[in-house]
Amino acid sequence: MDLPFGIDFGGSGIKGAPVDLAAGEFAMERQRVATPQPATPDAVAAVLVDLLSRFPHSSAAVGITVPAVVRHGVVSSAANIDDSWVGTDADALFTDATGRDVHIVNDADAAGLAEVRYGAARGRRGLVIVTTLGTGIGSALVHDGVLVPNSELGHLEIEGHDAESRAANSAREREGLSMEEWAGRLRTYYRHLEMLFSPELFVVGGGISKQADEFLPLLGLDTEIVPARLLNKAGIVGAALYASLSEGSSG
Ligand code: BGC
Repeated sequence: MDLPFGIDFGGSGIKGAPVDLAAGEFAMERQRVATPQPATPDAVAAVLVDLLSRFPHSSAAVGITVPAVVRHGVVSSAANIDDSWVGTDADALFTDATGRDVHIVNDADAAGLAEVRYGAARGRRGLVIVTTLGTGIGSALVHDGVLVPNSELGHLEIEGHDAESRAANSAREREGLSMEEWAGRLRTYYRHLEMLFSPELFVVGGGISKQADEFLPLLGLDTEIVPARLLNKAGIVGAALYASLSEGSSG
């Protein structure tokens, strides 16, 4: 089977499946391995070998999400991951470890590609900003279907704070905020993005987007804002899509 393989590298689990890119769906049931602790690049490489060995007939390119800035396969930030990732050429490390053509991609960029190709922003022209609300805030800027990678809009400084430290879903949980209180912070955040970018559409992903009807109607923005559609498939599908777009290249 030569379908591209997508892997979603999360804080608690590393999940993967071959992806049917015509449909934007898993071609086989997804498998999950616990994320090693600490999740250093070498420890993750060992888990990837295990995960891929469960799909013996798969040999095509592999895309892997990582919650960090990635340029030409090299990780250059580590907001919510082990510091040892910074400076690691993860494409080279994982290609060596697995014998597959591996391409890593920022997690929000993968979700953005997937939402634009298959999900809530399908067919939308102009600037779409996909945000993921989780431990941090991830962002993807997609203009007329083309991704501008590594936008890192979760780290905008707003009212003297790193935006994600106030408005990520982890801030809601950590501070025990009500949906109304959290929506107030989200409003400040998305208002700021509106002012800077004047997008056509915001798409909101991350696990909490399943409860989008409890907070999106409270935001009162000028810009249309909708929940993501691919939910927990976005990382795997977006990573596989990214791998197929990057296949054979070193970036
Ligand atoms: C990281 C981003 C990532 C986002 C969501 C942020 O803290 O800097 O690279 O996309 O979290 O995981």
